[in-house]
Amino acid sequence: MSRFSLAGRTALVTGGARGCGLAMAEGLAEAGANIAIFDMIEPEPAFSELATKYKVKTVFYRVDVTSSESLSDGFAEFERDYGGALDICVPCAGVNKNVKLLDTTPEDFDRLINVNIKGAYFTMQHAANMMIKNNTTKGSIILVASIAASRAVRGQYSSAYCATKGAVRAMCAPAAVELAEYSIRVNTISPGYIKTEMTAPFPHLLESWKSEVINNRIGMPDDIRGACIFLASDASSYMTGNDIAVDG
Ligand SMILES: NC(=O)c1ccc[n+]([C@@H]2O[C@H](COP(=O)([O-])OP(=O)(O)OC[C@H]3O[C@@H](n4cnc5c(N)ncnc54)[C@H](O)[C@@H]3O)[C@@H](O)[C@H]2O)c1
Repeated sequence: MSRFSLAGRTALVTGGARGCGLAMAEGLAEAGANIAIFDMIEPEPAFSELATKYKVKTVFYRVDVTSSESLSDGFAEFERDYGGALDICVPCAGVNKNVKLLDTTPEDFDRLINVNIKGAYFTMQHAANMMIKNNTTKGSIILVASIAASRAVRGQYSSAYCATKGAVRAMCAPAAVELAEYSIRVNTISPGYIKTEMTAPFPHLLESWKSEVINNRIGMPDDIRGACIFLASDASSYMTGNDIAVDG
């Protein structure tokens, strides 16, 4: 199991204050990584327990990934606190909006693009620059796409959201090609239906989605942890530009 160990490495997770991001941060900490979180909201209490539970360093930074200034400031503070020793980055911050194609406003669309596409893209850019600067040979960027990148979400009006997740999936392979020479791997995780604040407004859908899932249950944020640890670690060193669907 030593190839799954992240001891001595440092991971940055955006949107890590709750939900899937927090679950992945916890998994990375359990595998031994120091953790930094970028989010606009205060992290759930479980975050403050990671440091003592897994004997790793943890710092929360209030960052809005849609603002280039906020993102640059966040990375600058991270560089000061961690000596720039970034190995793993999980741009997980994301938003959804249940809105019909015929009713979607340019403002709705901009918000989804700004968080889900631009936020992920420029987080990846900053992270890659920092990994190149610190000469890590263990660079791993794990973008968070979705099954919504390749199919409709039944019962939800999500054409704009699906478009953003398709873009995340599409940026993975070309980024992996460009960053391979720096020993940085780029992959995506595509979660299926996961019970978080994002899906909480649709309890009736959570129930009906079960019938689409072979496992016949809705995923929990912890269900994504294993894939994240795998992609972050040497266990996946021959994998880049690819996707893992964690969708039951
Ligand atoms: N829940 C699901 O079924 C599901 C399925 C597939 C993919 N995803 C993806 O997983 C990721 C996490 O979603 P979740 O379900 O945990 O939802 P969530 O709402 O619980 O978590 C999203 C996090 O992103 C943060 N965030 C939002 N905008 C931000 C910004 N501008 N800057 C910094 N942080 C910001 C939020 O504060 C929150 O902590 C998203 O990218 C989402 O698209 C979720």
